[in-house]
Amino acid sequence: MDREDRNYQVKDTDHLLDYKTIFGNDNPVELEIGCGKGLFAREIAKKNPGINFLAVEKSSNVVVEAAEKAIEENIPNLIFLRGGAEYLDCYIPASSVDRIYLNFSCPYPKKSYASHRLTHRNFLEIYKKIMKKDAEIHQKTDNMHFFEFSIEEFSASDFYVKNVSLDLHSSEFKGNIMTEYEKRFSDQGFPIYRLEAIMKE
Ligand SMILES: C[S@@+](CC[C@H](N)C(=O)[O-])C[C@H]1O[C@@H](n2cnc3c(N)ncnc32)[C@H](O)[C@@H]1O
Repeated sequence: MDREDRNYQVKDTDHLLDYKTIFGNDNPVELEIGCGKGLFAREIAKKNPGINFLAVEKSSNVVVEAAEKAIEENIPNLIFLRGGAEYLDCYIPASSVDRIYLNFSCPYPKKSYASHRLTHRNFLEIYKKIMKKDAEIHQKTDNMHFFEFSIEEFSASDFYVKNVSLDLHSSEFKGNIMTEYEKRFSDQGFPIYRLEAIMKE
Protein backbone atom coordinates (compact mmCIF):
# COMPACT_ATOMS: atom_id res chain seq x y z
CA MET A 1 0.00 0.00 0.00
CA ASP A 2 1.46 3.40 -0.83
CA ARG A 3 0.89 6.89 0.47
CA GLU A 4 -1.73 7.73 -2.15
CA ASP A 5 -3.73 4.59 -1.32
CA ARG A 6 -3.97 5.67 2.29
CA ASN A 7 -4.46 9.36 1.57
CA TYR A 8 -1.55 9.87 3.91
CA GLN A 9 -1.50 13.38 5.32
CA VAL A 10 0.42 13.33 8.59
CA LYS A 11 3.40 15.57 7.94
CA ASP A 12 3.85 17.46 11.18
CA THR A 13 7.17 17.48 12.97
CA ASP A 14 5.82 15.78 16.13
CA HIS A 15 6.76 12.50 14.50
CA LEU A 16 10.37 13.37 13.76
CA LEU A 17 13.04 11.49 15.67
CA ASP A 18 15.33 13.41 17.99
CA TYR A 19 18.67 11.66 17.47
CA LYS A 20 20.23 13.23 20.55
CA THR A 21 17.47 11.73 22.70
CA ILE A 22 17.47 8.25 21.18
CA PHE A 23 21.23 7.81 20.76
CA GLY A 24 22.50 10.20 23.44
CA ASN A 25 25.02 11.84 21.10
CA ASP A 26 25.39 13.83 17.87
CA ASN A 27 27.25 11.20 15.86
CA PRO A 28 26.51 10.72 12.13
CA VAL A 29 23.43 8.67 11.31
CA GLU A 30 23.22 5.88 8.73
CA LEU A 31 20.09 4.00 7.71
CA GLU A 32 19.45 0.47 6.51
CA ILE A 33 16.06 0.08 4.83
CA GLY A 34 14.53 -3.40 4.80
CA CYS A 35 16.97 -4.77 7.37
CA GLY A 36 15.30 -8.16 7.74
CA LYS A 37 16.64 -10.05 10.78
CA GLY A 38 19.36 -7.46 11.22
CA LEU A 39 22.64 -9.35 10.77
CA PHE A 40 24.17 -6.56 8.64
CA ALA A 41 22.92 -3.83 10.98
CA ARG A 42 24.38 -5.54 14.05
CA GLU A 43 27.74 -6.17 12.43
CA ILE A 44 28.17 -2.70 10.91
CA ALA A 45 27.10 -1.04 14.17
CA LYS A 46 29.59 -3.08 16.20
CA LYS A 47 32.40 -2.24 13.75
CA ASN A 48 31.56 1.49 13.76
CA PRO A 49 30.79 2.63 17.32
CA GLY A 50 31.16 6.29 16.27
CA ILE A 51 28.21 6.05 13.86
CA ASN A 52 24.54 5.74 14.84
CA PHE A 53 22.52 3.21 12.85
CA LEU A 54 18.78 3.14 12.24
CA ALA A 55 17.53 -0.16 10.83
CA VAL A 56 14.09 0.09 9.23
CA GLU A 57 11.87 -2.91 8.55
CA LYS A 58 8.19 -3.06 7.68
CA SER A 59 7.51 -6.56 8.99
CA SER A 60 6.76 -6.59 12.73
CA ASN A 61 7.73 -10.21 13.36
CA VAL A 62 11.01 -9.83 11.56
CA VAL A 63 12.02 -6.58 13.25
CA VAL A 64 11.20 -7.96 16.72
CA GLU A 65 13.54 -10.89 16.07
CA ALA A 66 16.22 -8.48 14.84
CA ALA A 67 15.85 -6.21 17.87
CA GLU A 68 15.95 -9.13 20.34
CA LYS A 69 19.27 -10.28 18.90
CA ALA A 70 20.67 -6.74 19.10
CA ILE A 71 19.55 -6.43 22.74
CA GLU A 72 21.36 -9.70 23.56
CA GLU A 73 24.50 -8.25 22.01
CA ASN A 74 24.07 -4.86 23.71
CA ILE A 75 24.73 -2.53 20.76
CA PRO A 76 24.08 1.05 21.95
CA ASN A 77 24.45 2.70 18.52
CA LEU A 78 21.74 0.62 16.80
CA ILE A 79 18.00 1.37 16.87
CA PHE A 80 15.33 -0.55 14.96
CA LEU A 81 12.26 1.13 13.51
CA ARG A 82 9.21 -0.79 12.38
CA GLY A 83 7.75 1.00 9.40
CA GLY A 84 7.57 1.28 5.65
CA ALA A 85 10.09 3.23 3.60
CA GLU A 86 7.08 5.08 2.18
CA TYR A 87 6.89 7.05 5.43
CA LEU A 88 10.56 7.73 6.13
CA ASP A 89 10.33 11.49 5.73
CA CYS A 90 7.57 11.58 8.36
CA TYR A 91 9.93 10.41 11.10
CA ILE A 92 13.47 11.00 9.83
CA PRO A 93 14.53 14.68 9.96
CA ALA A 94 15.32 16.35 6.62
CA SER A 95 18.97 16.37 5.49
CA SER A 96 20.09 14.27 8.46
CA VAL A 97 21.26 10.93 7.04
CA ASP A 98 24.85 10.31 5.95
CA ARG A 99 24.32 6.99 4.19
CA ILE A 100 21.53 4.60 3.22
CA TYR A 101 22.01 0.86 2.77
CA LEU A 102 19.63 -1.13 0.56
CA ASN A 103 20.61 -4.76 1.00
CA PHE A 104 18.82 -7.38 -1.08
CA SER A 105 15.64 -5.37 -1.26
CA CYS A 106 12.67 -7.35 -2.60
CA PRO A 107 13.03 -7.22 -6.41
CA TYR A 108 9.26 -7.46 -7.13
CA PRO A 109 9.85 -8.99 -10.60
CA LYS A 110 6.33 -8.27 -11.90
CA LYS A 111 6.28 -4.99 -13.84
CA SER A 112 3.00 -4.00 -12.19
CA TYR A 113 4.83 -4.04 -8.82
CA ALA A 114 7.73 -1.86 -9.95
CA SER A 115 6.63 1.01 -7.71
CA HIS A 116 7.19 -1.23 -4.64
CA ARG A 117 10.89 -1.65 -5.45
CA LEU A 118 12.94 0.34 -2.94
CA THR A 119 14.94 1.98 -5.75
CA HIS A 120 11.83 3.15 -7.62
CA ARG A 121 12.06 6.90 -8.31
CA ASN A 122 9.21 7.60 -5.86
CA PHE A 123 11.33 6.13 -3.05
CA LEU A 124 14.44 7.95 -4.29
CA GLU A 125 12.58 11.26 -3.93
CA ILE A 126 11.80 10.39 -0.30
CA TYR A 127 15.43 9.40 0.37
CA LYS A 128 16.64 12.69 -1.15
CA LYS A 129 14.66 14.61 1.46
CA ILE A 130 16.32 12.88 4.41
CA MET A 131 19.85 12.57 2.97
CA LYS A 132 22.59 15.12 3.56
CA LYS A 133 23.93 16.79 0.41
CA ASP A 134 26.91 14.46 -0.07
CA ALA A 135 25.28 11.32 1.34
CA GLU A 136 25.42 8.00 -0.50
CA ILE A 137 23.16 5.04 -1.11
CA HIS A 138 24.90 1.66 -1.09
CA GLN A 139 22.96 -1.12 -2.78
CA LYS A 140 23.58 -4.86 -2.97
CA THR A 141 21.41 -7.43 -4.73
CA ASP A 142 21.60 -10.84 -6.34
CA ASN A 143 19.02 -9.86 -8.97
CA MET A 144 20.47 -8.56 -12.26
CA HIS A 145 17.17 -7.19 -13.56
CA PHE A 146 16.51 -5.32 -10.34
CA PHE A 147 20.08 -4.00 -10.45
CA GLU A 148 19.61 -2.71 -14.01
CA PHE A 149 16.27 -1.18 -13.04
CA SER A 150 17.95 0.53 -10.07
CA ILE A 151 20.70 2.06 -12.21
CA GLU A 152 18.04 3.49 -14.55
CA GLU A 153 16.07 4.88 -11.63
CA PHE A 154 19.15 6.44 -10.02
CA SER A 155 20.06 8.08 -13.33
CA ALA A 156 16.52 9.38 -13.87
CA SER A 157 16.50 10.83 -10.34
CA ASP A 158 19.72 12.85 -10.54
CA PHE A 159 22.03 10.40 -8.85
CA TYR A 160 25.24 9.17 -10.37
CA VAL A 161 26.53 5.70 -9.64
CA LYS A 162 30.11 4.68 -8.89
CA ASN A 163 32.06 1.63 -7.73
CA VAL A 164 29.74 -0.72 -9.61
CA SER A 165 30.54 -4.39 -9.12
CA LEU A 166 28.91 -7.23 -11.05
CA ASP A 167 30.51 -9.87 -8.84
CA LEU A 168 31.26 -8.38 -5.45
CA HIS A 169 32.73 -11.49 -3.86
CA SER A 170 35.29 -11.91 -6.67
CA SER A 171 36.15 -8.20 -6.68
CA GLU A 172 38.83 -6.35 -4.74
CA PHE A 173 36.25 -4.63 -2.52
CA LYS A 174 37.42 -4.74 1.08
CA GLY A 175 35.31 -4.76 4.23
CA ASN A 176 32.12 -6.28 2.88
CA ILE A 177 29.62 -7.10 5.63
CA MET A 178 27.43 -10.05 4.74
CA THR A 179 23.67 -10.02 5.16
CA GLU A 180 21.40 -13.03 5.76
CA TYR A 181 20.22 -13.05 2.13
CA GLU A 182 23.71 -12.46 0.80
CA LYS A 183 24.94 -15.60 2.58
CA ARG A 184 22.06 -17.58 1.20
CA PHE A 185 22.47 -16.41 -2.41
CA SER A 186 26.26 -16.61 -2.54
CA ASP A 187 26.15 -20.15 -1.06
CA GLN A 188 23.96 -21.02 -4.07
CA GLY A 189 26.63 -19.60 -6.42
CA PHE A 190 24.84 -16.41 -7.47
CA PRO A 191 27.02 -13.34 -8.15
CA ILE A 192 26.33 -10.34 -5.92
CA TYR A 193 25.84 -6.95 -7.57
CA ARG A 194 26.81 -3.76 -5.73
CA LEU A 195 26.85 -0.02 -6.40
CA GLU A 196 27.12 3.32 -4.66
CA ALA A 197 24.79 6.16 -5.71
CA ILE A 198 25.43 9.83 -4.96
CA MET A 199 23.12 12.78 -5.47
CA LYS A 200 24.27 15.20 -8.15
CA GLU A 201 24.88 18.75 -6.84
C1 LIG B 1 14.69 -9.89 0.86
S1 LIG B 1 14.65 -9.23 2.48
C2 LIG B 1 16.35 -8.78 2.77
C3 LIG B 1 16.67 -8.64 4.24
C4 LIG B 1 18.10 -8.17 4.56
N1 LIG B 1 18.33 -6.81 4.09
C5 LIG B 1 19.13 -9.10 4.00
O1 LIG B 1 19.85 -8.71 3.07
O2 LIG B 1 19.26 -10.22 4.51
C6 LIG B 1 13.87 -7.65 2.21
C7 LIG B 1 13.29 -7.03 3.47
O3 LIG B 1 12.79 -5.74 3.14
C8 LIG B 1 11.57 -5.53 3.84
N2 LIG B 1 10.82 -4.52 3.10
C9 LIG B 1 10.22 -4.65 1.89
N3 LIG B 1 9.62 -3.52 1.52
C10 LIG B 1 9.82 -2.62 2.51
C11 LIG B 1 9.44 -1.27 2.73
N4 LIG B 1 8.69 -0.62 1.83
N5 LIG B 1 9.83 -0.66 3.87
C12 LIG B 1 10.59 -1.32 4.78
N6 LIG B 1 10.97 -2.60 4.66
C13 LIG B 1 10.61 -3.24 3.53
C14 LIG B 1 10.92 -6.90 3.86
O4 LIG B 1 9.96 -7.01 4.89
C15 LIG B 1 12.12 -7.82 4.06
O5 LIG B 1 12.37 -8.08 5.42
